[in-house]
Amino acid sequence: MSLSKSLLLSLAPLLPQVSAWGTLGHTTVAFVAQNFVSDRTKSFTQGILNDSSSAYLANVATWADSYRSTAGGSFSSPFHYIDANDSPPSSCGVDYERDCSEEGCIVSAISNYTSRVQTTYLPLTERQKALKWIIHFVGDIHQPLHTEALEVGGNLINVTFNGTGTNLHRIWDTNMPEKLIGGFAVGDARDWATTLTSEIMNGSFAKDAKGWLNGMDVNDGIASAMYWAIDSNAFVCSTVVPKGADAVRDQELSGEYYETAIPVIQMQIAKAGYRLAAWLNLVATMENGLGTGKKRGKGNGLERRMVNWDEKAILEARRVRKTFGSDCGCGDEH
Ligand SMILES: *[C@@H]1O[C@H](CO)[C@@H](O)[C@H](O)[C@H]1NC(C)=O
Ligand SMILES: *[C@@H]1O[C@H](CO)[C@@H](O)[C@H](O)[C@H]1NC(C)=O
Ligand SMILES: *[C@@H]1O[C@H](CO)[C@@H](O)[C@H](O)[C@H]1NC(C)=O
Ligand SMILES: *[C@@H]1O[C@H](CO)[C@@H](O)[C@H](O)[C@H]1NC(C)=O
Ligand SMILES: *[C@@H]1O[C@H](CO)[C@@H](O)[C@H](O)[C@H]1NC(C)=O
Ligand SMILES: [Zn+2]
Repeated sequence: MSLSKSLLLSLAPLLPQVSAWGTLGHTTVAFVAQNFVSDRTKSFTQGILNDSSSAYLANVATWADSYRSTAGGSFSSPFHYIDANDSPPSSCGVDYERDCSEEGCIVSAISNYTSRVQTTYLPLTERQKALKWIIHFVGDIHQPLHTEALEVGGNLINVTFNGTGTNLHRIWDTNMPEKLIGGFAVGDARDWATTLTSEIMNGSFAKDAKGWLNGMDVNDGIASAMYWAIDSNAFVCSTVVPKGADAVRDQELSGEYYETAIPVIQMQIAKAGYRLAAWLNLVATMENGLGTGKKRGKGNGLERRMVNWDEKAILEARRVRKTFGSDCGCGDEH
């Protein structure tokens, strides 16, 4: 371990945690995407970001988590997730009308900022922010607990990991990816992205990767992001809490649980990067923009229709989320 890294680690509890999925996850997603964007997308995004370096997407991948913790950026906090009011582990599902609150959610945000980055009459700084949000949110939406209301996306489910107290949300964001890779520096992310890129091109993901692009329609950001959210949320039932929250609460999860979860994490990071590249490729070919940014699609029909929503439970979940705030004061952010 280098000196600077051990210093960073020893300071870690004192510093605000600036990332969901963690720096490692978001930066890796961005590097995977860089490996799959078209030349046109590369120049479009480098132009908007004013960054011609070899890490032009990776450099801005965690900006949104820093911004949300500023006074001016706090409005964007709800944009990092959608709190699905489903019933894991017996039934998972996301419903846009039910789960995207009045303040917005990750699905409405992806749609909004997709429109805005294409709206050429907006100031460059606004289009820059829009692009930075897209890069970040396409990452977040692939973390299953960013698509789940249960105990504030797992933030209130305390667990231990390698003997250290943490929570279920945080081990998915950070502890498990970092255990796999052994670090969180830019070079670690670049290397992990190289591995995942070969798995997509000619390795274990090659067969499935084409299907990952299903459901994508750049004219309907809501339906497209809903497709990703539903896909991600299914892992809450299958992998995150397959036996319910109480089966993992206060348990040590760096053993068997980690072994089951880590293949899903690898696939979700790869998928996020691959989808981000494809999405940006579509964005970059549409010169004229989508107009007002007010488009609210009807969804793609894949959502579970729950005719008997438990309104009381939903209101209670939103109250708990509000109480929790935009960060928990314990070094975590959702
Ligand atoms: C682009 O970045 C360069 C330095 O890297 C800076 O000098 C220039 O002002 C930036 N341009 C814009 C439009 O932000
Ligand atoms: C779209 O983004 C703008 C700029 O961040 C924001 O002011 C507006 O509230 C957003 N609209 C929606 C529907 O999220
Ligand atoms: C979970 O852990 C946090 C931080 O250690 C602690 O403040 C909180 O009381 C714990 N919650 C429960 C329900 O034990
Ligand atoms: C787990 O904890 C042990 C003992 O504290 C430590 O030596 C080891 O580096 C930790 N492993 C990880 C992956 O953090
Ligand atoms: C898989 O793709 C990588 C990157 O293009 C290449 O270096 C490697 O030789 C390929 N392996 C096989 C078995 O085709
Ligand atoms: Zn985030």
